Amino acid sequence: MAGHGEAQPMRATAGGPLRGVAEIPGDKSVSHRALILGALSVGETAITGLLEGQDVLDTGRAMAAFGASVERDGPGAWRVQGVGVGGFREPQDVIDCGNSGTGVRLIMGAAATTDLTATFTGDESLRSRPMGRVTDPLALFGAEARGRRGGRLPITLTGAAEPVPVRYATPVASAQVKSAVLLAGLNAPGETVVIEKEPTRDHTERMLAGFGAEVGVETTAEGRVVTLVGQPELRPQRIAVPRDPSSAAFPVAAALLAPGSEVRVPGIGLNPTRAGLYQTLVEMGAAIEFVDRREEGGEPVADLVVRHGPLAGIEVPPERAASMIDEYPILAALAATAEGRTVMRGVKELRVKESDRIDAMARGLEACGVTVEEGPDWFIVHGRGADGVPGGATVASRLDHRIAMSFLCLGLASRSPVTVDDAGPITTSFPSFVPLMRALGADLAG
Ligand code: S3P
Repeated sequence: MAGHGEAQPMRATAGGPLRGVAEIPGDKSVSHRALILGALSVGETAITGLLEGQDVLDTGRAMAAFGASVERDGPGAWRVQGVGVGGFREPQDVIDCGNSGTGVRLIMGAAATTDLTATFTGDESLRSRPMGRVTDPLALFGAEARGRRGGRLPITLTGAAEPVPVRYATPVASAQVKSAVLLAGLNAPGETVVIEKEPTRDHTERMLAGFGAEVGVETTAEGRVVTLVGQPELRPQRIAVPRDPSSAAFPVAAALLAPGSEVRVPGIGLNPTRAGLYQTLVEMGAAIEFVDRREEGGEPVADLVVRHGPLAGIEVPPERAASMIDEYPILAALAATAEGRTVMRGVKELRVKESDRIDAMARGLEACGVTVEEGPDWFIVHGRGADGVPGGATVASRLDHRIAMSFLCLGLASRSPVTVDDAGPITTSFPSFVPLMRALGADLAG
């Protein structure tokens, strides 16, 4: 698949133990939201620990195109001069969100209740992903979207000149859909309500409250009900972005996989709507200690200490899926080295991520000598035990950073090296992945 620039193949080979401290960059979800809400507040928001991955940089550029000033002071330190709720101006050119579903969906939401027209696009992966899930609820506010067949990007969105508030029950468990509706609700008069059957990551609600919006959250028979009072004046914030649990998952997995390893991963965000993988790993028998639990930037965090050890396959409860939706690829890689089967159900959303992640993991694992069974919304990995994965394959990363990182981790515990055809997409979410893993002792050649 053609991406941005030339494919960068990379090979992972099993070797010595991984040791040391893994400094994980800022949380991708929180970083996008910090830039967008900073742009919608009146005055200057100062952000530290911002993830400087391509996805987030694309969102920063988009905020500038809508009229905010977005400036970098130093590594992870950014300032956003906001234009206020309803203050977006019409961009002069197409907004390219690159690989980022979160970026494009949240920004379409933020733009949907302002009287302007903007055209959005992205890379080949993003242009194949469903956008009707956000343009349908945005139409209820009065916005109009025209895209390619199937609601695909490029999409031209005309925001509602006189938006009405909306009450919307999300048909899919998606924090992006919930967030798009809430961000649109900011510039609608009255109360916008989003109801989700299963709770998804709640960074938007938390951050909106931090910026001074009136946000209520209730659990009712219908599900989790989030209510936002529209047209607030958002007050600029100082935001310390916690480190990303989804990125931390890769060095954690590598330490579990490589014999003799011990890795410390400090300050990882453990918001319960994000921490499902860590609970799952503990249930599989992983040796992970959670040290110095504390709160940073309004989010619960802890230092993780991870030691190599055997894993046992399990049935992952489907109701946990939303809290670890980005972690199934690396879980599937770990499951390949476990004793017994790991059963993952209720995961149909994996089919519409940066790639079809069930298919990408199943084909890649099979190429590495691992048996996988799959259905529309489930897959089962048959573990081959700690030294049992043959490897020796070249796997397609399909413009998907998490597929690339998952197979590179698996290569660190396979009998023969594993190559990914393109490690380039890793820069979308974890630009320091390769040097960080090498510093811990991983043999990555590319
Ligand atoms: C995200 C929500 C999830 C997740 C994505 C980030 C967010 O997507 O997969 O990586 O920041 O809101 P969905 O909302 O589509 O589940």
